[in-house]
Amino acid sequence: MSKHDAPVNTFSSSPNATKTTRFVVLISGQGSNLQAIVNHARNHSLNASFEHIISNVPSAQGIEWAQRAGLPATIIDHRSFVSRQAFDETLAETIEACSPDYVLLAGFMRILTPAFVRRFRGRLINIHPSLLPAFSGLRTHQRVIESGVSCHGCTIHFVTEELDHGPIIAQAALPVSSEDTPERLAARVLALEHELYPRVVGWLANNQIAFNDKGLVTLRDVNNRHIWKSS
Ligand code: GRF
Repeated sequence: MSKHDAPVNTFSSSPNATKTTRFVVLISGQGSNLQAIVNHARNHSLNASFEHIISNVPSAQGIEWAQRAGLPATIIDHRSFVSRQAFDETLAETIEACSPDYVLLAGFMRILTPAFVRRFRGRLINIHPSLLPAFSGLRTHQRVIESGVSCHGCTIHFVTEELDHGPIIAQAALPVSSEDTPERLAARVLALEHELYPRVVGWLANNQIAFNDKGLVTLRDVNNRHIWKSS
């Protein structure tokens, strides 16, 4: 039984509960966030299991890495499905076969249908390379430079039906330099992502994060004290 058979507006157990938190990770490319997350979980002995790594792109390098790391890894090529809905249905069934507590989108470059998002409500988490709500969508680093803003970064959020607008769990920021190109900025933000996503996965594994029906996110410390609530 998944932790999330419990209502989404309550913590289902105490922080640091002994139950292993089950993750499925969806990727489309190199999977550098996947690697950062799994390595962090292993190095810090998190009470987390990575039940399945799934890519919608057959050439995704992250799948090879997952196999070498001894993780169950599968390609579900979206191009072999007649519709977005049909792909999402197969993806959802494959995920649910693992009974995950959380589904992590880590460089998963495909928009999911509202039905899929509703099915995994409160369990679906994404990383986006900007400080949301600014610069939702694609080509964020290029657009940041063009706009002249002085601050950029990344956001980890629960996924809701509105693209890149779900409740925010955590953000990390950096100053934009006059020397930044889109490529340089992308590399700098990616390094931030590699710090932030593993940290959030640690909170999830410790059952420190809750998402309620009003879309608020609460973070507790390991002693069960509320330390942050979104507004
Ligand atoms: C990351 O910047 C992520 O935010 C974006 O895709 C990029 C590549 O991620 N959505 P990864 O190396 O495949 O984890």
